[in-house]
Amino acid sequence: MRGLIGRSLTAAAALAMSTAFAHAAPNVEVLHWWTSGSEAAALNVLKQDLQKEGIGWKDMPIAGGGGGNAMTVLRARVTSGNPPTAAQMLGYDILDWAKLGVLGNLNNVAEAGNWDKVVPKAIQKFSKYDGHWIAVPVDVHSTNWVWGNKHLLDSLGIAQPKTWDEFIAAMAKVKASGKIALAMGGQPWQEATAFDGVVLSVGGPDFYKKAFYDLDQATLSGPQMVEAFKRLEQLRGFVDPNFSGRDWNLATAMVINGKAAFQMMGDWAKGEFLHADKKPMVDFECFRTPGSQGVVTFNSDQFVMFKVGKDKQASQDAMAKAVMSKSFQVAFNTVKGSVPARTDVADTQFDACGKMAMAQLKSADEHGTLLGSMAQGHAAPAAVKNAEYDVVSAAFNGQYTPEQAAKELAKAIKLAQQS
Ligand code: GAL
Repeated sequence: MRGLIGRSLTAAAALAMSTAFAHAAPNVEVLHWWTSGSEAAALNVLKQDLQKEGIGWKDMPIAGGGGGNAMTVLRARVTSGNPPTAAQMLGYDILDWAKLGVLGNLNNVAEAGNWDKVVPKAIQKFSKYDGHWIAVPVDVHSTNWVWGNKHLLDSLGIAQPKTWDEFIAAMAKVKASGKIALAMGGQPWQEATAFDGVVLSVGGPDFYKKAFYDLDQATLSGPQMVEAFKRLEQLRGFVDPNFSGRDWNLATAMVINGKAAFQMMGDWAKGEFLHADKKPMVDFECFRTPGSQGVVTFNSDQFVMFKVGKDKQASQDAMAKAVMSKSFQVAFNTVKGSVPARTDVADTQFDACGKMAMAQLKSADEHGTLLGSMAQGHAAPAAVKNAEYDVVSAAFNGQYTPEQAAKELAKAIKLAQQS
């Protein structure tokens, strides 16, 4: 009997057993774009928390900062009828998927965890659809930050710039010293991320909202937006010749290593400084894009859970509960560079920049200056965001004058609204 058939039957039986066993061990397949050192370290916190609950983790990392690649792969997965258990997602993308009716309902976990009370309303706007919780917020990042190498700045006698003109003067002084003034990754999502703070520096929250929330044509093509593109043009003069296509974390590494003085980037960059054992206010400085102080342009990473079979729902609920736990919100966000997505978490374990970010988030929320980041999909839907990306990137790369860029921005956004 121990012939070929016997062996194959035994093998089949073993396979069936292992497969059956695999079904018995709950797991979650998670699609995300957290592939840098600090992002992976932060995500490990969740993997380990779920492991402790006997929930396995099937990783589906899609490299590419900002998540554009990840969303392309996700669309292919879902249209082929094979959605992951959960996916990292931002802002209006979540609402677009919710409209398709393919997301699971997290109300049970949300009600048990009192999410309505502890999650800021500005974040809930993207976590709920039709009154149901369809996503669990993992963190709150924000984009109007500048990161500086403190040793380099001190050596050049450069104080932290508070105004746009002081920022430009500081970068000019760095450039004159032979160092790279501004570390930039030449990718549209990164150029647009810097532009969030530039727009704020010109006209503050009202201008930002009229342009990026209301999509007001006169504002998008008007003199203040021309000034914003003039400032973007100024920045172009401070980057190194090899900026094009550079990944965001490699630009951050240039500041970490003192090759460059500044980077304008969301506070996921801070995760990279911490991951490199750098200390805030000692090795690096964190400050709001000069001229944008008092405003926070936020983006909250959330996990959406796709509608899956009953056998998977328990794991999804367990994952959602784990993400919203206070312990996870501290353990993850202290590594990731973001702040907690719930307001009842103490800042004691956060570094100086984290403490500042938590206080600024709270204050902005109270003063109505907690605004969704355009670059990170929290001000307008993807079609509009991508139209802005195209024009900002073209302008940064010298294809438009500031006057042309403002006109093109209004035109492109109007077209995108009709798509
Ligand atoms: C953002 C995301 C951050 C970080 C960053 C760089 O969209 O919210 O968590 O991943 O991209 O990839």
